[in-house]
Amino acid sequence: MDSQTTSLDFAVIGHQDNWPNIQSFINAMRTTDLEELSIEKIKGIYGYIPPRGIFKMRVKSPTGKEINGVYIETFIEPDQLEAQHLRSNIQKVKNAIEAAHTLKAKMVILGGFTSILLEGNFKDFESYNMVLTTGNTLTTSYVLKGVEKAAKEHQLVLNECKVLIIGATGDIGMACSNYLKGTVKQLLLCARNRIRLENYADQLKREGYDIKYSIDLDDLAAEADIIISVASSQGIKISNLKKAAIICDAGYPKNLEDKLEQHTDVFLFHGGMGQLTNGYTFIPDYTAHFYYYPAPFLGHGCIIEVILMAFEGIMENYSTGRGNITKEKIDKMYHWSRKHGIELAPFYNSKGLL
Ligand SMILES: NC(=O)c1ccc[n+]([C@@H]2O[C@H](COP(=O)([O-])OP(=O)(O)OC[C@H]3O[C@@H](n4cnc5c(N)ncnc54)[C@H](OP(=O)(O)O)[C@@H]3O)[C@@H](O)[C@H]2O)c1
Repeated sequence: MDSQTTSLDFAVIGHQDNWPNIQSFINAMRTTDLEELSIEKIKGIYGYIPPRGIFKMRVKSPTGKEINGVYIETFIEPDQLEAQHLRSNIQKVKNAIEAAHTLKAKMVILGGFTSILLEGNFKDFESYNMVLTTGNTLTTSYVLKGVEKAAKEHQLVLNECKVLIIGATGDIGMACSNYLKGTVKQLLLCARNRIRLENYADQLKREGYDIKYSIDLDDLAAEADIIISVASSQGIKISNLKKAAIICDAGYPKNLEDKLEQHTDVFLFHGGMGQLTNGYTFIPDYTAHFYYYPAPFLGHGCIIEVILMAFEGIMENYSTGRGNITKEKIDKMYHWSRKHGIELAPFYNSKGLL
């Protein structure tokens, strides 16, 4: 997609999480008379493609306001997310932000893994006439609203529930525990780095809340009525769950789903998602190659956050890295979401709608 003279309201920077999806969208972008590229051929070139705009997006609010955005692909390879690729992946994210700047986007959301790479370090881009967000505030709103709704539907009362947060010292994990700390029976906190977890748990204990924590999930999982999983890694091992536990799996790659096959009685849904009741348009229409959900017009909370910022004209960095998400911001984002016709997504997981 070429650079243009008129500005765009927002840009979404993202990456793909598996090779079959990449094969589908790469072949869709090539002219129809060209031979289909195999996954093997694509793997040989994919990581060398510079970040670039792939399609434009148009979104309309029930208030009548219409905004235009662009999806910028980083071309980060799905099997190169580990620490040894950190430097080259960070460079790809920075190049993607440059691409957004060239396309004159006023606001940029760093989607999925790209926000974790920069960790809210937006300083390099202060001179640009645009604002950035990780999108984690609205993601947290949808995670929490999903948990509240699931609890109600399963006749669970939150202040009688023990809630386990996996990824408790992360941006979304801390935002969830801060929101829930006064409303649930006990918070069970899990992360791998013991010192960071201990410091955070001690801080909450000093505030007077009932907290149990461990770096070993086995110490916590069996007690949890509700589990929120927002860890940025796949290496999670979980067993011995409480009967009929509610699980909000909001991490990527999906944290828990494929580890729970023997637990047929739990209620597991993909959290952090919204549904744009007014729809949206992709130009060109790559929906078939970028959209894999069981209901129409679903979107990640992080992406919807920048859409709401554009509708509301918020010209300041909104979600800016670990520890900065407040209850007020979570509630404000959810209010804007409803105002602009964007609802919590229906419950679903990889098997379909629940
Ligand atoms: N649904 C959506 O729309 C949406 C939007 C944005 C982000 N996300 C996803 O949400 C997740 C969290 O994002 P974030 O920005 O909060 O990430 P973050 O700040 O990097 O936090 C990740 C947390 O996970 C912990 N962790 C990592 N591996 C773990 C493991 N194996 N077991 C237990 N804890 C583990 C980390 O602590 P240690 O390193 O100490 O373990 C940290 O507490 C990511 O997967 C992200 O892709 C979803």
